[in-house]
Amino acid sequence: MRVTKEDLHQLIQNKIHKAGLSEDQAAIVSDVLTFADARGIHSHGAMRVEYYSERIAKGGITQNPKFEFKKTGPSVGIFEGDNGSGFVAAEKAMDHAIEIAKETGIAVVGIRNISHSGALAYYVERAATHDMVALSMCQSDPMVVPFGGSEPYFGTNPIAFAAPSNDDRIITFDMATTVQAWGKILHARSRKESIPDSWAVDEQGNSTTDSTKVNALLPIAGPKGYGLMMMVDILSGVLLGVPFGKHVSSMYHDLSKGRELGQLHVVINPEYFVGLDTFKKSISTMLDEIKEIVPSEGFKEVNYPGERGRMREQKYEENGIEIVDDIYNYLVSDDIHFDYYDHKNKFAE
Ligand code: NAI
Repeated sequence: MRVTKEDLHQLIQNKIHKAGLSEDQAAIVSDVLTFADARGIHSHGAMRVEYYSERIAKGGITQNPKFEFKKTGPSVGIFEGDNGSGFVAAEKAMDHAIEIAKETGIAVVGIRNISHSGALAYYVERAATHDMVALSMCQSDPMVVPFGGSEPYFGTNPIAFAAPSNDDRIITFDMATTVQAWGKILHARSRKESIPDSWAVDEQGNSTTDSTKVNALLPIAGPKGYGLMMMVDILSGVLLGVPFGKHVSSMYHDLSKGRELGQLHVVINPEYFVGLDTFKKSISTMLDEIKEIVPSEGFKEVNYPGERGRMREQKYEENGIEIVDDIYNYLVSDDIHFDYYDHKNKFAE
């Protein structure tokens, strides 16, 4: 099924509002999810609405959260999420971080006690459109074996980075610290597809190509990815006083309870370093030089991070966004489930 970005946005917003969030909050949730689908990050788009709706309806995402932002230092602040929507909290926290970095050159804003906040690219790009360089990272539920281990301990703990250029290009690097994000396994399952044998292991700890048999994911590049996911958990979990490591709540364990997740935004204002104009010009030069590199065999061109997503977005603008039929049918239905995801094994869905 192909839908326009505008129609998809409205459908998601309607469903999230029906589940219990205010129109304003539902619009922000839909901004982030539609952004993800439009960029081809389908693992973090409309596919998740059914789950979020159940959690909202059951109170596991606070419907009317008491968000509070406290500055704890000239460039540092903590955004209390009250276990509300991670999308809304992360966007609002990013806006605080941008304002602080405009004044002081840098902002480090921790966001604590939130639910899932989706594709982190959205938040860092928001900063880049305000001429800032940004990093964001967050916790996710433990489903990754540490290097050399047979049991999951860390989450897929993503890191995103964005930087503005002197033209309309933005570098947007956004990755899970696992070979693949959990959402990619879900996406493969929703399409009844197999997965490459380098992504995940089954219950016995052996690598598997069966997307329905996954019991834990593998970190990128062995000990290096393991070290990065540990760093993310320390900066977005331990530093903010929320549960860490294997104590991070599971997406499906109890949908009536808040997830208490942590996220960290770091925003840097280039004006306070080399100067904004010089910085942006250098980024454009870097991208030009990269684009001039002769592609190796099998590649049509060298892309910079975020470029392919934006190319997809342009294609979707012409032809509509491809949405799996089951997901579309759910979005247009009146359904909000109360017992579909709750207490499922985190690897079962
Ligand atoms: P990915 O593997 O699809 O892409 C990773 C990065 O590589 C992106 O920045 C992309 O632009 C870049 N890239 C891909 N192909 C490229 C090419 N040919 N040339 C140059 N650059 C290229 O991303 P991944 O790891 O699957 O993550 C997907 C999403 O999942 C992210 O948006 C991430 O934030 C989100 N996520 C969210 C979690 C949460 O709990 N909120 C947990 C884990 C992931």
